[in-house]
Amino acid sequence: MKRFVIVLAVIIFSFSIFAAENALEIFSWWTGGGEEEGLLALFDLFHKYYPDVEIINAAVAGGAGTNAKAVLKTRMLGGNPPDSFQVHAGMELTDTYVIPGLMEPITWILKDMGVLDKFPKDLIDIVSYKGEVYSIPVNVHRANVVFYNKKIAKEIGMTKEPTTWAEFLMYLDKAQKLGYTGIALGDKNKWTSLHLFESIMLSELGPEKYNKLWKGEASFNDPAIKNALAIMKDVLKYVNSDHSALTWQDATRLVFEGKAFANMMGDWAEGYLKTLGWKPGVDFGWFALPGTQNAFMLVSDTFGLPKNAPHRENAIKWLKLLATVEAQDIFNPIKGSIPARIDADKSKYDIYLQWSMKDFSTKTICPSIIHGSAAPESFATALMDAINIFVTEQNVDKTFKEILWIADDNGYVTD
Ligand code: GAL
Repeated sequence: MKRFVIVLAVIIFSFSIFAAENALEIFSWWTGGGEEEGLLALFDLFHKYYPDVEIINAAVAGGAGTNAKAVLKTRMLGGNPPDSFQVHAGMELTDTYVIPGLMEPITWILKDMGVLDKFPKDLIDIVSYKGEVYSIPVNVHRANVVFYNKKIAKEIGMTKEPTTWAEFLMYLDKAQKLGYTGIALGDKNKWTSLHLFESIMLSELGPEKYNKLWKGEASFNDPAIKNALAIMKDVLKYVNSDHSALTWQDATRLVFEGKAFANMMGDWAEGYLKTLGWKPGVDFGWFALPGTQNAFMLVSDTFGLPKNAPHRENAIKWLKLLATVEAQDIFNPIKGSIPARIDADKSKYDIYLQWSMKDFSTKTICPSIIHGSAAPESFATALMDAINIFVTEQNVDKTFKEILWIADDNGYVTD
């Protein structure tokens, strides 16, 4: 009898260990406002294939990873990694995690699946280091987009989307005169003001020069950057007065509620507007920020495999799933992004996303600063702080000087 009890206890103990062992902890910042819906759809798909794996959703709230990135870094440096985590393609991945030796190469996963060539080469390049791939791109977001309320557009007589700053500012002014907020901003989390500024900078520099900045082939000491600050100052005349109390979702919601004409945001706002019940092309329209029609400001969410992932086998299953067309075609139409896989089923995407797909394959791709692709975190954070102060002080000369210091500090050309 005693032996039977011991054997039973051992079985129960092993089973509980096994149960806890069969987990998968996924870290991200997708907690609501259209973002969580996409993530949960991926979890559902994972459970369809692996019903016994318990998914631990370790998401930390805050758009663009405002809070999540710091938590993640502490965990990674403290030797307590999640099984897989959201990270932007580009410097955020390579500089922060790959070069310090915290990630496993996963080229073999894409090779085993035979899908290495099913992702755009340029995208694979920015998730690679020394010839090895380190994360799986799940999507491509476009950052330089303005979403607008079609009903208000009609009221202000906008029959065609603006392509110049003069036209755009004229519509913002008309909207304001009718009692609306021209352009909604929510910079409670500071990143949104740099999100706006980097695209204005792109507009003034043009895509070629903008891209050269990051290769050290163009100087930050360019009147176009100063001019971008002057345009930003003009735009700020038309933002909501409570902008510093609002998140990006709150700002997008002002457009949905008919309180603001437009919102300049990445197309995760498209995902959000759809979860609120709006239809693209019917309730809301969109256009590339004036002057950026020939550019696609790229933001790509990817997932990688940290060294010493507690449930490595499950993490590999997760990564393999993300690399499939099936997962990408379930996730992206909800998230408001286009698939990273080039062979995805275009018919599953709405008219906005088809517009974005077309532009992605025909326009110049430019990496976003604030969403981790163009520059190291030290640069992005310092610039974000400077632009945030600019929103309050609106001192063009002072901020331009600060930008030059920040660029110089980070080894970029400023002569
Ligand atoms: C970006 C991210 C998007 C979206 C957005 C707002 O950095 O790539 O997927 O989540 O932040 O939170």
